[in-house]
Amino acid sequence: QCCKHCTSATIRRNVTFMDSSETYWTDRALLEWQVELGATDAILDAPVNRYDLETPTPAPKKTAPEGKTAAPAPVAVVEVDAVGAARTAAATANDLEALSAAMQAFEHCELKRGARSFVFCDGNSAARVMIIGEAPGREEDRAGRPFVGRAGQLLDRMFDAIAMGRKHEDAAQSLYITNVLPWRPPSNRTPDAPEIAMMLPFLERHIALAEPDVVILMGNTPCQALLGRTGITRMRGNWTEVLGKPCLPMFHPAYLLRNPIAKREAWADLLSLKAHLSG
Ligand code: URA
Repeated sequence: QCCKHCTSATIRRNVTFMDSSETYWTDRALLEWQVELGATDAILDAPVNRYDLETPTPAPKKTAPEGKTAAPAPVAVVEVDAVGAARTAAATANDLEALSAAMQAFEHCELKRGARSFVFCDGNSAARVMIIGEAPGREEDRAGRPFVGRAGQLLDRMFDAIAMGRKHEDAAQSLYITNVLPWRPPSNRTPDAPEIAMMLPFLERHIALAEPDVVILMGNTPCQALLGRTGITRMRGNWTEVLGKPCLPMFHPAYLLRNPIAKREAWADLLSLKAHLSG
């Protein structure tokens, strides 16, 4: 059934459109738009003659004993403590494989439903340096690996300049890479505070299990997650600590692609990292 502004034809056209290979988020936005317009039912391809359908017999109403009014039926309100659930799930993981499985089984993050892949990590988990980015983008969602798009290619070139890379087998030269979120946010939007809070126990466990010597935070989102503050322009290049480990915030390579002038600071940070590792 549709509202006075909507003909069956428009509803049908839009529902048919939703059958195409649109993504979850596009489908969802279209559906929400239909609901806003007043649509209450999805229309099937073939018309349904509702006179031919059996009329369900209404369930007999419970009557209150004479002289008493029936109490309203209790409404169950179930509040899910997603952060608590994440904390419990993360704590049970005793190695990276178990952590990956626990994250994949976690059902409280809505982003999971719109993502094509679960993106956990890349590189060498024994590496001295662990890089933490924001979230997978389109290329990463397709590949199932972090930092494989344009920003990832720049990241590889940056670290190559100090003789480090995710493909190196030697722990001293290799990198271990992950993100704050393992699922792509719609249209690559910045992760919001509840999403970050929900996935933080997993990220903290990830760092604890990987045991890097140094943590690099790429951009504001990992700074928000692990240091509780943003302001990468002021924070970058200043060594701090995260979970007891030396930590260096840096400009995100996607920012460097948009602001190549900032590559000078990024180079200074890479040299600082190199000096820290050999110091
Ligand atoms: N940007 C990120 O922060 N992470 C990725 O994996 C890709 C782009």
